[in-house]
Formats: sequence, C-alpha cells, structure tokens
Amino acid sequence: MNSPELVESILTVKDLTTSLRLSGATSPITIVDRMSFNLQKGKTLALVGESGCGKSMTALSLMRILPRPEALPSTGEVIYRGQNLLKLSEKEMRKIAGGKIAMIFQDPTTALNPVFTIGNQLMEVANLHLNLFGNAALERVMMALKEVGIPDPKARVNAYPHQLSGGMKQRAMIAMALMCEPDVLIADEPTTALDVTIQAEVLALIASLQRKNHMATLLITHDMGVVAEMADEVIVMYAGQAVESGSVQKIFDEKAHPYTQELFASRSSIHVPKARLHTIKGEVPSPSHLPRGCRFHPRCPFAFEKCFAGDVPNFIVNEDVDHLSRCWLS
Ligand SMILES: Nc1ncnc2c1ncn2[C@@H]1O[C@H](COP(=O)(O)OP(=O)(O)O)[C@@H](O)[C@H]1O
Ligand SMILES: [Mg+2]
Repeated sequence: MNSPELVESILTVKDLTTSLRLSGATSPITIVDRMSFNLQKGKTLALVGESGCGKSMTALSLMRILPRPEALPSTGEVIYRGQNLLKLSEKEMRKIAGGKIAMIFQDPTTALNPVFTIGNQLMEVANLHLNLFGNAALERVMMALKEVGIPDPKARVNAYPHQLSGGMKQRAMIAMALMCEPDVLIADEPTTALDVTIQAEVLALIASLQRKNHMATLLITHDMGVVAEMADEVIVMYAGQAVESGSVQKIFDEKAHPYTQELFASRSSIHVPKARLHTIKGEVPSPSHLPRGCRFHPRCPFAFEKCFAGDVPNFIVNEDVDHLSRCWLS
C-alpha cells in the first residue's frame, strides 16, 4: 500500500459541476454534480456506471470540450500544476488539452478529421504541442505510429482515416493522444467499439504506455472485467453523482452501495455471456427529472423512508476514509 506522501496527484478535481441549457427546460440542468477525485501519477482511476450517468460529460468537462452552445462553463476546481484549468482562457487551455492532458474516445472518428491524412493530423499535434516542424515533426510522428503497433507506418502515414480498420484508427488516435507524453490520459470507453481480441490488444497497449510514461489515467468503462484488469481506484457514478468510491479491491470485495451491487450483478463484460445477465430494473433517471432524496431509490431493493427525503451524505465505509458510499445503509 502507498502511504499518502508517496502518492503524487497530477490532477485534483473538486466539486466539478456541469450544467446544460436544454430545450424546453426553464433553468439549466445539472448533468455532473460535484464530482471530486484525484488522478495520481502512474495510476488508473476507473469511472463506471450505466449509460447516461454523466461519465462522458465529466471527461469533457475536464478537457473543456463540452457541447456548445448548451453547456454552461463548469464550476468547481480542476487543479493541474497549481492552476485551475476551469479558469484558464480558451487559448491557454488549448495548449494543455490535447498535449499534456490527452483524451481518447470510443469512436476514433470523433478525434480524427476525415479530410486529412493520419500523418497530417499527427504533424499538427507535433507543431502545436511539441514545437516540432518539418522532418523533426515527421520523425516524431513515425515514432508515435510505431509505438502503438501500427505496421508499416511509412505507408499508413499517408492514409486517410477511412482507409484504416477500426483497430488501426483507434491506434492512430492513441498515437495522437500519446505523442506528447501526456501527464494525464482520459480514455472514454476506448475499446467498446472494437472486436474482443482487438480490445485486449488496445488495453494492453494503453497499460504498457502508461507504465512507460507514468501517466495518470481516467478510464471510463462499463466493463467490470476491464476495471479489474486496469484500475487502481474506482468511482461508481449514478445520475451525475459519485455514489461509491474506493480502491478497486474494496469496491470489488465490499460493494457498499446497492447500485454498485446491481452494477456487478448485471455486468456486461467480454467475460460473461450475455444470456446469463441480470439487468437492473428501471432506467437511469433523466437529469431533468431526478427523484428526491437518493437518486437511486426508485430502483433500489433496499429503499426505506429516509431514502425518499433529502440529499444522502457520503459515508465512510468500514472506517476506511478512502472508501465512500452515498447510502444510508453504508
Ligand atoms: N449535448 C447534449 N444535449 C443534451 N443532453 C446531453 C448532451 N450530452 C449529454 N447529455 C445528457 O447528459 C447526461 C449524461 O450523459 P453522458 O455524460 O454522455 O453519459 P455517459 O457517458 O455516462 O453515458 C445524459 O442524460 C445525456 O442525455
Ligand atoms: Mg459516455
């Protein structure tokens, strides 16, 4: 176990809150509600939860690439190297996002522009973030493509995204994200769209690059098998809030929050055949119609009166201050 002094936080997020102005709603709707966490050097924090819980919006808030014009500027703090990223000008932020803080997406076409070759796009990153031009930039690009296991980078550098397979596109995007040796990698369902064998390869690639560069990684996934393999810490997110957080071992062993228990019971994983799955009854509530009290109570098998009333605090589980659960039964 690491003692607190040995843990080096690279990104400290406190009360991160993001709201959207949605058509039909009279006031902005909170999508990400006071999320707080630390990303540590060389460690992976997994953010898990069903679709629609606000995982991607949390990531986009950190990168400040929220949907426009719906999103209001996020509030709270995202501290990186002593500065609050939420307070930087757009220009200052562009120097960091895509450079020292990089993101990869489920769908590589989100990050890759279809009208430019892979080489052009990586060269641009080298220009903008590494101040490399001409041959020096090209050399760095070729190295990056090689590093992510793209065969024959000399040929691939001139390819357009549509000329590559899904797995190769994913690798090209990872090359683009990792070319600047980021301190922080945000990976939003990086392998969900890929075939099972390619998934394992891409995860292994991320893990090996992480070991090499000591990146802090925020890994968004709904696959508990992937969490078990990759994560050190876990945050379980439900309806915009963290409902449980702790070390991967504590979360897997104790599953303090009923939502975590349901999530595990229903886990869709490359290791579990779909036919055997238990599904969580009901649906994630819409952010504009959140239930009063605990947001999970309408779906919770243990809900009792207290759960229908006010906000539920974060409780310390079994006297472990690093293991929190937002449930009266914790
Ligand atoms: N551009 C948008 N306009 C309106 N609602 C959005 C937009 N993006 C996300 N949302 C809503 O925000 C909530 C969280 O979404 P998201 O962060 O994508 O969830 P997750 O990544 O956990 O599946 C959802 O209710 C989703 O419908
Ligand atoms: Mg998402």
